[in-house]
Amino acid sequence: MDLENLPDAEFCMQEVRKWLAQRPQQPKVYLHVFGCQLNVAEGEQMAGILQTMGYAMTDEIQQASLILYHTCAVRENAEDRVFGTLGNIKKLKQENPALIICVTGCMTAQEHIADKIAKSYRYVDIVLGTSPANRLAQMLYAHMHGLRYAQDIAVYADIPENSESIRNSPFKASVPIMYGCNNFCTYCIVPYVRGRERSRKPEDILTEVRKLIQDGCKEIMLLGQNVNSYGKDLENQITFPELLREIDRIPGKYWIRFMSSHPKDATPELMDCLLECEHVAKHLHLPVQSGSNEILRRMNRNYTIEKYLSQVSYLREKAPDFSLTTDLIVGFPDESQEDFEATLALVKQVRYDNMYSFIYSKRTGTKAASMPDSISDAEKSRRMQELLVLQREIAVENNKRFVGRLLTVLCDGESRKHPGIMTGRSSENILVEFSGNPKMIGKFVQIRITDSKSSCVTGEVI
Ligand code: SAM
Ligand code: SF4
Ligand code: F3S
Repeated sequence: MDLENLPDAEFCMQEVRKWLAQRPQQPKVYLHVFGCQLNVAEGEQMAGILQTMGYAMTDEIQQASLILYHTCAVRENAEDRVFGTLGNIKKLKQENPALIICVTGCMTAQEHIADKIAKSYRYVDIVLGTSPANRLAQMLYAHMHGLRYAQDIAVYADIPENSESIRNSPFKASVPIMYGCNNFCTYCIVPYVRGRERSRKPEDILTEVRKLIQDGCKEIMLLGQNVNSYGKDLENQITFPELLREIDRIPGKYWIRFMSSHPKDATPELMDCLLECEHVAKHLHLPVQSGSNEILRRMNRNYTIEKYLSQVSYLREKAPDFSLTTDLIVGFPDESQEDFEATLALVKQVRYDNMYSFIYSKRTGTKAASMPDSISDAEKSRRMQELLVLQREIAVENNKRFVGRLLTVLCDGESRKHPGIMTGRSSENILVEFSGNPKMIGKFVQIRITDSKSSCVTGEVI
């Protein structure tokens, strides 16, 4: 079977549907997503496509006739976990040779990984990259026609808009607004596996968001590797703040969040928009990666700490309480003690509400992978611990500012450890715990904050 000349996706979808309909029982798919929120959103899209073809979803891997892993490549441990998982399911395929195993995502978009799977994990049937929704139906069609191994890890520029996702939550939704990345930060694999920036058309995004709000969705997370460059590739150019303002005009009670915002393109126009839009949450995730200008230069981040701090000041002068979070990498190749201390100094100055910190992980094919590195793993771990301790101290202090205040919280669910205790997040993205009942899930509730800890604040329903 020639993978280049398959019938179109729509035809393949119908054929797979007919094929599956012949089974005595409805076939089930076990879908597991590794990685970031974009991957989760893509998993929801694939679930929608699979359901259209006749599959039902299952959480029981033993019951599945299709196992689908959507993978991540951002750090080495993400890949190790996938290989470990694939090793564990070999016996399932031995017991049931009709089982279809499909692996997709950023990890398999790398040629050396796809080759490794083809050679060493011969029970895998289908391998796709970061455009799985474009080709899933066709690969299943090829499989159904007897192809032992189907692989297509190309990145497709066109964005499929005709499928309806199966959302994991009825009141919180992620909406990718663009795919790919043009920035080539020297440590990062994403531009290699996801290709160049492609923005969705604003009308497609607005239609999707309008429908979500009509269906009762309360929080919409707009996703892109650098949302600030949204629209630059479109024929009728539109900026990200313009898109935010368009969405903000949709009536209703809901919050808009977004990530990630690259500091090199975070403009005063964006900050003003955050402050002025009624529905935009009071939280900005502004990944800084390092507090050292020398490391930022070697990371190819294209901003200085001075520029970054001026953005923080612009926002904080107008809204002192605005919540800021960041991503930081510890142990970039040859990060000196002074570089690391500059990161600690930055964290002390900005006083983030939360931080996602990672030890640098070497990624094959990136520029940083060939940079000399004389810093030991033990020293990198020590620095990481020091940073985490500092951040915990800051979070404890920061969270105290909410005590005595009234916060609007979107209730997410019930604490597993403490029945009767509900959890949710405020507009500032602060985790809030309070006594309540499951009827509150998916609703906005007013909470008077009575106490604070490092990881959350607690309070009472008003
Ligand atoms: N596009 C987003 C941005 O620029 O902020 C980041 C997306 S990336 C998937 C999420 C985070 O993973 C990055 O902000 C960075 O801190 C971290 N990261 C990326 N590559 C890494 C690597 N090789 N080692 C450790 N952390 C890494
Ligand atoms: Fe990776 Fe940099 Fe692109 Fe973010 S902006 S995805 S860190 S290359
Ligand atoms: Fe996301 Fe991991 Fe890919 S963080 S973009 S799934 S490399």
